[in-house]
This record gives sequence, structure tokens and C-alpha cells, in this order.
Amino acid sequence: MGRVGHYGERVQITRGPFDPGGQPTIDSPHPLLLGLFAWNLTGGATISKAVLDDPDRYQNFWHWDTAQYLIQFAERMGLEFQIPFGRWLGHGGETRFNEDSLDFLTTAAALTPLTRRILLFSTAHVTYGFHPLHFAKFGATIDYLSQGRWGLNVVTGWIEDEQALFGQTFPDHDLRYEMADEFVTLMKWAWSSQEPVTYEGEFYKSYGAYVSPKPARKPRPYLINAGSSPAGIEFAAKHCEWLFCAGGMEKMKLAAETVVDRAAEYGRRVDPMAVAYVIIEGTDAKAEAVYNRLVEEIDEDATDTFVERATAQPHSFAPDRKRDTTKRIREQVGEDAYREIALGLAGYQICGSPQTVAEQLRAIHQRAGQRGVLLGFFDPIKGLHMCHDEVLPLLRKMSLRK
Ligand SMILES: Cc1cc2nc3c(=O)[nH]c(=O)nc-3n(C[C@H](O)[C@H](O)[C@H](O)COP(=O)(O)O)c2cc1C
Repeated sequence: MGRVGHYGERVQITRGPFDPGGQPTIDSPHPLLLGLFAWNLTGGATISKAVLDDPDRYQNFWHWDTAQYLIQFAERMGLEFQIPFGRWLGHGGETRFNEDSLDFLTTAAALTPLTRRILLFSTAHVTYGFHPLHFAKFGATIDYLSQGRWGLNVVTGWIEDEQALFGQTFPDHDLRYEMADEFVTLMKWAWSSQEPVTYEGEFYKSYGAYVSPKPARKPRPYLINAGSSPAGIEFAAKHCEWLFCAGGMEKMKLAAETVVDRAAEYGRRVDPMAVAYVIIEGTDAKAEAVYNRLVEEIDEDATDTFVERATAQPHSFAPDRKRDTTKRIREQVGEDAYREIALGLAGYQICGSPQTVAEQLRAIHQRAGQRGVLLGFFDPIKGLHMCHDEVLPLLRKMSLRK
């Protein structure tokens, strides 16, 4: 094929739904899929000064020795996937919440030779100035190296100050999802096309889009997304394999039903996946004591900064709040929502004995229609070990894991 100066045919499809060759499917015998979240940054999903009791254990598990251990142990337990939390800015406070973070693309490549089965997701803020060809190439390479284990969490960002790091202004909320739609459509062209193509969208153009080697996973790598607005859910329905659903049972259930129905209208399948923050101890009483201590010690400086930044522009992840400078942010947001943000980044909170944790996971699956759960832990090493030793056997008895 003479490719010099050959930009290929101009493609007509510039937006989703678009699944050349169909959608990839997950190969797991388990009715309930499980993954590990937010292992890559200071404090993970916990904004409480209680982490200062033992920084190595509660804050610095992102240090590479520990992070490797966590991912390898998660794989040995049979967890299907891991997802790093993609953050460009930390939020300070006494806990330096999320101030140190391992990048969420290169870690997937670094984990490739250290693992054999677990899916290695990266997270990309597609609107922070990348071109789709960057991620088509990065992803195809990591997928090729890992023999089909790479996937992308497509995020459009909710922190304006992060976009400013790149010298850019923050596009409007729904516009960001339109950009993501084109971004992913062009990536899918580059992954699937055997010849270079010319793509001319509203936001992205490419003359001769093509990558080789192709991703190892056929027809392409998994794409996932965690939007909760109508535009975010619509994006998942058109382009992704999974949608992460945050919030309580009812909210998760509604998001699940919406995305499944919308995807079906496009002839697609999207699996809803919950996100949960887990505190697990030998008994419910002990777990509650840990939870109460975390609440007493919430790092308000860091939580306030996070809330301020995350609510500076409208999007659906942050709770509605009426700005009233005479009141503390905690009061503006409301105590329950504030606690849910500080402990678990607004994921579903699970706190209790192994029995309680297993029952809650079952409820998420059966009552809220979630195919799997992404687990974030206050104490990740202990949490994973207790899951392995005590929760997984209970889930097997419930026929949720084989
Ligand atoms: C489980 C989960 C993981 C997420 N991971 C990231 C992330 O790593 N980086 C990021 O900027 N946003 C992340 N988000 C935010 C979402 O991508 C999304 O922007 C947010 O839920 C708001 O929804 P909306 O964009 O539809 O308004 C995550 C959300 C959830 C629930």
C-alpha cells in the first residue's frame, strides 16, 4: 500500500453510535463483576484526617511497591478490573488529599508485564487537548502489549482549574460530550480501518487516520464512562460497554434502566456498574466505629476545595447547592451529601462485617440492576484481604461469584 500523501477516503460517520465489527464482550463466569478503584493517589477516596494515623497504610498505597502488590493481589483474588482515579490537581488540606498521583495512562503499560488476566483501564480527559489519534495509538499499543487487557475510561472532566493547567478554557458541559462523541468515533475508525481514512468532524480532523498494530482485543478495547447527566448517559449508550452509576440504590437503578434502554434503541448493550466505598471490619459495630471516626475527622479544607472546584461549573456529579457565602460549604451542601463526598467521592457507602458487605453487594446487583461493583477502600490492603478471605466465600454461597 503506497501511503505517502494518501489520506484515504473521507468517512461519512463522524458521531456514534458506531461499532465497526460489533462490541467487545467481557469474558467472566461471574454474575457479579468486581474491580479496584482509586489505588493510584494520596488518600484514594478518603478525605479524613484519620488517614494520618498511618500514612503508609491509608494514604500512600499509591507508592509503587504497594500499588503493585494491590493490583497483583486483586488479580489473584479474581477481580476482573482496576481503574485509577484520573486527577491532575490535588485538593490540599492537612491530608494533602490526592496531591500525589500516578498517571492513569502509563500505569496501565507499567502493570502489563506484572499481571496476566486483570483488565487495565486508563482514564483520559479527552477534552484536555489530546487528539483522538494519541489515544488510538497509546491504547492500541497497551492493548497489544497486554494481549487485549486495556480499556479506556472516557471522562470529560468536571474541574475547570484542571483544564486551566493546559492553558485552555473549559468547554460547556454538553459540548464536552459532543467532543467526546467525535473523539471516540475517530478512535474507533483508527482501530478498525485497514486503510487510512480522512475524518472531518466539527472538533477533530485527521487526514490519513490509521494505527498499526491494531489493538489485540477484537473488535476493539473496552470503553467505559461514568457520566450521570443526560448527556453523559447518552454518550455511554452510544459508545461504551459499561456505565458507572454513583449514588444511592434508587439513583443507581434509574441510571441503569436509562442507559440499558437507550443503548437498546441503538442496538447496543451497556452494562451498568456501581461504585462503592467500603469499610470492612470483623463486626458491624467495629466498622461503624471506624466510619464515625472518619466522619469526625473529615478534612474540611480539602473537602471544601474539592466541592468548590467540582461545583464551579454545573454537572451532575456534584450536589446542587445554593451559594451562600455566609454559610460553611458543609451546610450549603447538606451533611449527608458532604459525608458522601468526603468518604467515597459520592459512591455508595458500604460499612460493616463481611456478611453485611456481601449482602450490600448483592442488593446493589439485584435491587439496583448493576452488573458489577467498583470498590474503593479506606484501608485497601486490609479491605482486599478481608474480601478475599471472608466476602468472596459468602458471594459464592449467594451464587454471585463462581
Ligand atoms: C466511578 C467514577 C469514576 C470517575 N472517574 C473519574 C476520573 O477518573 N476523572 C474525572 O475527571 N472524572 C471522573 N469521574 C466523573 C465522571 O466522569 C463524570 O464527569 C461525573 O460523574 C459527572 O457526570 P456528567 O459529566 O455526566 O455531568 C468519575 C465518576 C465516577 C462515578
